[in-house]
Amino acid sequence: MVGGASSASPERFDWTGTVTDAMRAAYERDGFLVLDGFADPDACAALSERVDGLIAEAAAPDSPTVFGDHAGDRYFLESGDKIRVFFEPDAVDAVGRPNRPIEQALNKIGHAMHDLDPVFDRFCRGENFRALSQGLGLETSVLLQSMVIFKQPGVGAEVGWHQDATFLRTQPHSVTGYWLALEEASVENGCLYAIPGGHKGPLRQWFGRAGDHDALEMRDLDDTTLNADAAVPLEAATGTLVVLHGFLPHMSTPNRSDRSRRAMTLHTVDGGLPYPSDNWLQRPGLGAPRGFGPEAAAAS
Ligand code: FE2
Repeated sequence: MVGGASSASPERFDWTGTVTDAMRAAYERDGFLVLDGFADPDACAALSERVDGLIAEAAAPDSPTVFGDHAGDRYFLESGDKIRVFFEPDAVDAVGRPNRPIEQALNKIGHAMHDLDPVFDRFCRGENFRALSQGLGLETSVLLQSMVIFKQPGVGAEVGWHQDATFLRTQPHSVTGYWLALEEASVENGCLYAIPGGHKGPLRQWFGRAGDHDALEMRDLDDTTLNADAAVPLEAATGTLVVLHGFLPHMSTPNRSDRSRRAMTLHTVDGGLPYPSDNWLQRPGLGAPRGFGPEAAAAS
């Protein structure tokens, strides 16, 4: 549990293919929406199988792949239009090479599976996401970032409190996060926590490119206290999707259990809004991001 976290259960819904008024009201009130059964077991199995394939294809890279030094920053900064692997800090040696089998060392894979991998492309541009984004009034969304996030048994680290609008910015802000459980996520193995209604507060931090746009910087914008005591766990069965408003403070705890926790995330912005060049994520190799729906599926 998060220290002092509320024991209240979040409102949750069974996904039946359409967004209801009650779902819209919950999303507006809480800043998140928990949709059980969003992805069916076959879809989850196909995605998980593809993740295993990406892991198998990922030879240990030449560059260090954890944050904290210039080479690691470059590896990250150039990953917006690629599929790259990133390791847990505790699972690499002093020069950034994994110190255990790669499948047990990964922190995440990112950031363009939705454009570069046909399995992810088809899933992200399937009927469910089209109906969901339309039902939430987000039909002008474009898909900017996809990740597979691992919480390895024993070493899966905490992801601290943050707001996704810190990391992906349009003018005005429009980022929306979609978090899909590829394995069950519980309080024991590192599920999400969120503060209901917290999206109505200010954006607290800015993260982006500094200097000649080849370095990373985090800046504080607003020191309004975060009420972590009001956090609720967003436990999820395989196939549950959580929609996250860009201003919603959320985090996830470390995985101290012996059960893996895998999730897929997708982040969208309004494709009609300016996207500043100091966003860390740039995609020179892919061009303008595409929207939801089969008409936007890759031709490749
Ligand atoms: Fe996030």
